[in-house]
Amino acid sequence: MCSGFDRIAPFYGVFESFLFGSRLQEMRCTYLDQLTHRRDILLIGEGTGLFLERLLKVNPKTKVTVVEQSAEMMERSRNRVDARDFGRVTFHRVALQEFDAVERFDAVCTFFFWDCFEKSQLQAMLPILSKYTDGESLWIDVDFFEIQEGALITKCWHFMLIRVLYGFFALATGIQARYVVEIEPLARQNGFSVIESHRSEKFPVRARIFKREIGRGVPNSLV
Ligand SMILES: C[S@@+](CC[C@H](N)C(=O)[O-])C[C@H]1O[C@@H](n2cnc3c(N)ncnc32)[C@H](O)[C@@H]1O
Repeated sequence: MCSGFDRIAPFYGVFESFLFGSRLQEMRCTYLDQLTHRRDILLIGEGTGLFLERLLKVNPKTKVTVVEQSAEMMERSRNRVDARDFGRVTFHRVALQEFDAVERFDAVCTFFFWDCFEKSQLQAMLPILSKYTDGESLWIDVDFFEIQEGALITKCWHFMLIRVLYGFFALATGIQARYVVEIEPLARQNGFSVIESHRSEKFPVRARIFKREIGRGVPNSLV
């Protein structure tokens, strides 16, 4: 479904800087300090690799696995990796739904990823995270949200911004989603709870850390 991301890969960075300046990258890095001692990190739908580049700098020991469906996005990500780090980054050009590994990761990052999907797709995809995490793993998610509260002017501006983004991504990549599904209830069904949360002051973007309570949600043996 998302091979349409190949088409926008060359402009993705420019588009982001034009609309958001450095704010989205700041949000991706909200909890970067939590990853400095994690040894095995999974990045899902990493796009052009802005975060990967930063992560490799702040954590010189971590092994990183990237799961990314778009070849063009992944190529840009790969180009950001310094030659001396090649040995500790593994790229899988595959949809998350088809990714198959046996290991558990110390941390999983999903940035502006779940907003590409409709609720029925998310219901099928979120259980996959259980397979790659345990009670010690962190799942860091940064994404847009549909604003429900606040001043009318802020609500209108955030509403318009998100509609424009969905309009663009629907045309350019073919995604079916038209609004941001709140993933927290689905995460809870899969045993994950929010342990920290931070909102951007300017944009409808939120960074959250989820952790899994073993014994709740889908048991590891079933995924
Ligand atoms: C909106 S972009 C976000 C990119 C990046 N994480 C960021 O922070 O800007 C969504 C990314 O997810 C990738 N993607 C979409 N569907 C996917 C799937 N099913 N499995 C893996 N990657 C996918 C797209 O190719 C794209 O790179």
